[in-house]
Amino acid sequence: MPRKKISLVGGGQIGGILALIAAQKELGDITIVDLPQLEDPMKGKALDLMALRPHDGYDVNISGSGDYAAITGSDLVIITAGLARKPGMTREDLLEINLKIIESVAKQIKQHAPDAFVILTTNPLDAIVYAFHKYSGFSKQQVVGMAGSLDSGRFKAFIAMETGLSVQDVSGMVMGGHGPAMIPLIRTASVGGIPLVDLLTTEQIDAIVKRTQQAGTEIVKLLGNGSAFYSPAAAVIEMAEAYIKDKKRVIPCAALCEGEYDIDGYFVGVPCIIGSGGVEKVIEFDLTPEEQSQLEKTIEAVKKTVEETGI
Ligand code: LAC
Repeated sequence: MPRKKISLVGGGQIGGILALIAAQKELGDITIVDLPQLEDPMKGKALDLMALRPHDGYDVNISGSGDYAAITGSDLVIITAGLARKPGMTREDLLEINLKIIESVAKQIKQHAPDAFVILTTNPLDAIVYAFHKYSGFSKQQVVGMAGSLDSGRFKAFIAMETGLSVQDVSGMVMGGHGPAMIPLIRTASVGGIPLVDLLTTEQIDAIVKRTQQAGTEIVKLLGNGSAFYSPAAAVIEMAEAYIKDKKRVIPCAALCEGEYDIDGYFVGVPCIIGSGGVEKVIEFDLTPEEQSQLEKTIEAVKKTVEETGI
């Protein structure tokens, strides 16, 4: 079977780590594309990753380019293009500039890889995915935003850190928009099947919830110049692998809701089945009245940013 073609639009911090992990997992041949003036640095990054192969043993090809034509025929396109936050900025502060970038990226992907499954990471995430979907005219199965997997990953990481137990045994899900109003669902959290509420105090759990909601900001502050990249890249890979291997994984992602959870016409973090059909289904389950009202609050924040796009 020929290898899948994976294109990374944006060869910055997340793009570089994405290329490395995707290669190590041998998910497919990888093309890193950035602006024409960055063609040489992209080629350099790709060559460096090719030279890593003897140490790690992966048999995939990695190339770099400054020309969108290089993404032709991609099965999967991952968009990391756009500016990242600096300390003191909100994700919404990036809207104007990143919207312009996404408009031109959408045009290029529509032209060169119209059948690809597209995963976006650009902030403000939920509004940018909405905009990409409109600009590209792609189906709702084909377009998804990465954030629920990252936010759920952070929730699980903090649970493992607080309990001192293996992260492998931690479950838990975060729903809602990729912002401070996201909802870490405590009743979905468990370690080795034991409910989190039986392992930690209310104060400890509250602290984990708050830290999860602010984790991106905490990292931006510490880094001083840019936002997180290791965990966002790994969170995208989870989704990419589910698609490429048709795993039917259940991952919270920013997907288009058309009536699910009483949301109509917006992309927001909800549990999705990811397989070879892309976003194969949004899974709906009953929320408690408190969770439903939290979800409504996060939707309001997403709607406000979407309105600002003017689309
Ligand atoms: C974060 C950025 C990528 O949450 O939104 O780290």
